[in-house]
Amino acid sequence: MEEVRVTPWEAEAFVDYDRLIKVFGAKPLTEREVSALKSLTGELHPMVRRYVFYSHRDFDIYLERLRSGARCALYTGRGPSGYTHLGHILPWIFTKWLQDRLGLELFFQMTDDEKFWHDERLELSESNAYAYENSLDLIALGFDYRKTHIIVDSEDIGYLYPIATRVAKKITYSVQRATFGFTDSTNVGLVFYPVLQIAVSFLPTELYDEPTEVLIPAGIDQDPYWRIARDIAPSLGYPKPAQIHNKLLPGLGPEGKMSSSKPETAIYTTDPPEVASQKVMRAFTGGQPTVELQRRLGGNPDRCSVYKMYEMLFEEDDEKLRERYWSCRTGALLCGECKAQLAPRVATFLQDFQKRRERARDVVDRYLLRGKFEKPRVRKS
Ligand code: TYM
Repeated sequence: MEEVRVTPWEAEAFVDYDRLIKVFGAKPLTEREVSALKSLTGELHPMVRRYVFYSHRDFDIYLERLRSGARCALYTGRGPSGYTHLGHILPWIFTKWLQDRLGLELFFQMTDDEKFWHDERLELSESNAYAYENSLDLIALGFDYRKTHIIVDSEDIGYLYPIATRVAKKITYSVQRATFGFTDSTNVGLVFYPVLQIAVSFLPTELYDEPTEVLIPAGIDQDPYWRIARDIAPSLGYPKPAQIHNKLLPGLGPEGKMSSSKPETAIYTTDPPEVASQKVMRAFTGGQPTVELQRRLGGNPDRCSVYKMYEMLFEEDDEKLRERYWSCRTGALLCGECKAQLAPRVATFLQDFQKRRERARDVVDRYLLRGKFEKPRVRKS
């Protein structure tokens, strides 16, 4: 089978998502799961209506278990290698919506250790500081501190280690290498790291001291961790974690997902609004090289980073989105106009967001897992 260029550390801008789920072995989200969700939430988030969240593992079973009153929780996270960009907050926006609609607690992992091991130039003190900076973004989205618990790996390892030791014993180096593409020169911190990301999917069961169904809303790039987690869960006595996967917001350049490794093509939540507007105005689009050609042949919204910003984040109204799609396709809408309409939306979003983000500094402590839960004990198996 052809190589798939999506891993937890890199991804193309326009991925063949259908092929990806076949290779990964996940299931496409269908009307069946979508209407099961709607029957619990009453309405649907645009990211579900538009299949931005488009694939899953056992999401249907999770919803059934939730409906039948089983203990359930949410889990997602962030590798704090720098400031947060709009791609990162995409799954968090949906996670917040799920928390509000379903009343679920969220466990949020900040992997300052992972990013220290992954990025040669990053000191642990820096990735640790980013863990707290990135927490401000989570809080600015409006998560409820009573139901949101942030775990910072380097400081909260005592919560994970009793689970991680047992997880580690179930995973061989050959599985790690095959799943993550590790080589002989990969440092052993990074080789161990997946154990910790997997351990959090079992943490709620330990903290609540009862079997807890966990749903992980996150980008499809994180799926390799969950394949292993699901394989080993039964032998450790934990429920298999379920997933719902989002597509990746493309960067504003000609290639690649929006990524911290390409700052010029990413919009950070900390960008001054005018800088973000300039990035939008310089974005690479799916348009034709000249106005004449664009009018005659139309653009290609399916491969346009600007259209994807509307579809995935900045246009709530389905009808308006459809209009934009067809105006682009038929050449009625030029790329310059489309960007000029997006730039102020992004700027206004950032202005409001940054106010909330600053206010969040005073309340970060309330969100930290430590202090709210006892550390899990080593269980007799
Ligand atoms: P990280 O920091 O790379 O990404 C954080 C979350 O953002 C998603 N994501 C994107 N979504 C849409 N468009 C993009 N361009 C984009 N780029 C990133 C990721 O899929 C992820 O959901 N190892 C993890 C940290 C982690 C984690 C977790 C993530 C620990 N536990 C549980 C998800 C779920 C990481 O480095 O994520």
